[in-house]
Amino acid sequence: MSKIKTIGVFTSGGDAPGMNACLRAAVRGALKENIEVYGIEHGYQGMIEGKMHKMTWKSVSGIIQQGGTILKTARSERFRTKEGRAIAYSQLGHYGIDALVAIGGDGTFKGALEFSSEFDVPIIGCPGTIDNDIYGTDFTIGYDTAINTAMQAIDKIKDTANAHDRLFFIEVMGRDAGFIALRSGIATGAEAVLIPETSTDVNRLIAKLERLYQVKQRSCIVVVAEGDDTGGAFEIAKQVGNRFDKYDIRISILGHIQRGGSPTCMDRVLASRLGLEAVHGLLKGKRGVMVGKICHKIIYTPLEKAVKHHNEVNPVLVDMIDILS
Ligand code: F6P
Repeated sequence: MSKIKTIGVFTSGGDAPGMNACLRAAVRGALKENIEVYGIEHGYQGMIEGKMHKMTWKSVSGIIQQGGTILKTARSERFRTKEGRAIAYSQLGHYGIDALVAIGGDGTFKGALEFSSEFDVPIIGCPGTIDNDIYGTDFTIGYDTAINTAMQAIDKIKDTANAHDRLFFIEVMGRDAGFIALRSGIATGAEAVLIPETSTDVNRLIAKLERLYQVKQRSCIVVVAEGDDTGGAFEIAKQVGNRFDKYDIRISILGHIQRGGSPTCMDRVLASRLGLEAVHGLLKGKRGVMVGKICHKIIYTPLEKAVKHHNEVNPVLVDMIDILS
């Protein structure tokens, strides 16, 4: 029998649609096992400041469809210090919290690794980030919602690009990963998708745009991952515009719209499954791991592996861009 009696749950790093669904499942899964749950506000910063409150079944009512996180999130410089982590540990002791569920991205898991190496705190991570850049899961919580948001935004931009015969460079999030760009680009029939995982050949891009112009394609969409090696949409638009002036060029940075919105069904179900399995994993004695879903199976990956490796983009999807548009 696990000696865990009280669990702390928190959301950390960039928020992602589905974090509330994950939190809801972790809270209700724990309560179902007669485990007490504290919600820790503002991530590691709130842990240091002792901003925690007991969660009940009702605490997480009506949130599964809400974007963002009712516990708020933050990035904590203080938690990067041993002194800050020691204060956080003493706060957990004060509330009688003997294990943690951390919902966040790789920065969250790096902090969890450091923390659990210094203090005896079982931690299980749930991959909550729109970037989908966490090793150990097919999809991260928030990714499906973000690519649908990006797709709908790009579709709208495509309407006005067509109306004005314009070439649009549209920048999407993803930090140093291209997963959002790749799928939203394919789904919107973008003529090119620039991602950090493949080196961008500006000459090749211009040659493609020239070919399209020759065959009377009067408007084009280029989706640019913010981490692309060209430096992002403004930079690549300038390079192209200086050498190829047939198109009237415009730029659109989608920005934080990709972080909000009501989570999709896929994200709600994934988040609920991972939140539950994080609690079950703690009660089975697992610690220092991230719970993920790979080929429909629940997999627990050591945190050091989850943060060290990067998910690979699917080369078949990369090739599809040139074949299909
Ligand atoms: O990691 C999620 C993410 O949205 C990245 O895609 C993006 O680069 C970053 O967070 C933005 O961070 P902030 O919200 O702090 O500006």
